[in-house]
Amino acid sequence: MSKPRPLILDCDPGIDDFVAILMILAAPEKFDLLGITVTGGNVPLKYTTQNALKACELAGRTDVKVYAGCPAAMMRSHTYESDVHGETGLKGPELPLPTMKAQSQHAVDFLIDTLMTSKEKVILATTGPLTNIAVAIIREPRILDHIDEIVTMGGSMELGNITPAAEFNFYADPEAVHILLTSGKLPTLVGLDVTHHVLTTHDWFEELDALDNPVAYALVAMLRAFYDYDVQTYGLTGGALHDPAVIAYLLKPDLFKGQNVHVEMDLSFNITRGRSTVDWYDKRRLEKNAHVLNKIDVKGFFILLTDLLSRYGTSSLSQQKTGLS
Ligand code: RIB
Ligand code: CA
Repeated sequence: MSKPRPLILDCDPGIDDFVAILMILAAPEKFDLLGITVTGGNVPLKYTTQNALKACELAGRTDVKVYAGCPAAMMRSHTYESDVHGETGLKGPELPLPTMKAQSQHAVDFLIDTLMTSKEKVILATTGPLTNIAVAIIREPRILDHIDEIVTMGGSMELGNITPAAEFNFYADPEAVHILLTSGKLPTLVGLDVTHHVLTTHDWFEELDALDNPVAYALVAMLRAFYDYDVQTYGLTGGALHDPAVIAYLLKPDLFKGQNVHVEMDLSFNITRGRSTVDWYDKRRLEKNAHVLNKIDVKGFFILLTDLLSRYGTSSLSQQKTGLS
């Protein structure tokens, strides 16, 4: 069996980021989580940081190191999604305030120090605005040579969700996205074209309840609260699990389809700001700078997610020897 791959998650919890953290921590045989870096996004940094700590405590992993990063985007303050995730970013259950504390080191310094000293190339998974990542790249471009792959929740080939044109993570800091897209890496972009098909259902909530473990109970309460916004706003048939799709891709890439394309970020201050223009048919013959996903095996995704969450009802996860079923 291959050994766990080193991974850093950059996020803005938010309910779906919270689920993504619990997926990572449920698969210690797959991921060696070097740390979680946090940015403002769904809600202000003080809450996104607190929520990342809450997720680690709920998973019984007070050893995980959480680093607070940039509270705002490069060009202007972040846009908040409190109507989606609640004032503190975790509507639904009242989880206890975390006892574990965030590290004193800034997230950007952690990213640079860890990547520059890692003996192995590191996976970078991102599920929020890309401000921390972009600032780290600007400060120390050599970190790019120490990154194995970047998988980012963001963008849309079709409609946006925060504006008619743009997806939230990309809209929150378009300049940061531009820095990633011009970095020479080929990030895998998990956009709304995929995540608006990864929708919770009440039947699946019943399945989660039947797992009968504290993590599943907490997630069902959050995801039930998260459900209505997407149904009422976008006419979806459930709540979209955007960020979990990033972790699912890292665990089972065969659940997805996509292709290498050129993506351009709209940096204007017009209504299209933050839009990711995806040249899917290669009309411009420009260098491919992203791997954009456009299909997901939804059934396979939920089998994977349920399997991961079922592990919180068994003995200590660190003794898990089996791979994913
Ligand atoms: O557009 C969806 C993305 O924005 C998700 O990452 C969600 O958590 C919010 O950050
Ligand atoms: Ca997020």
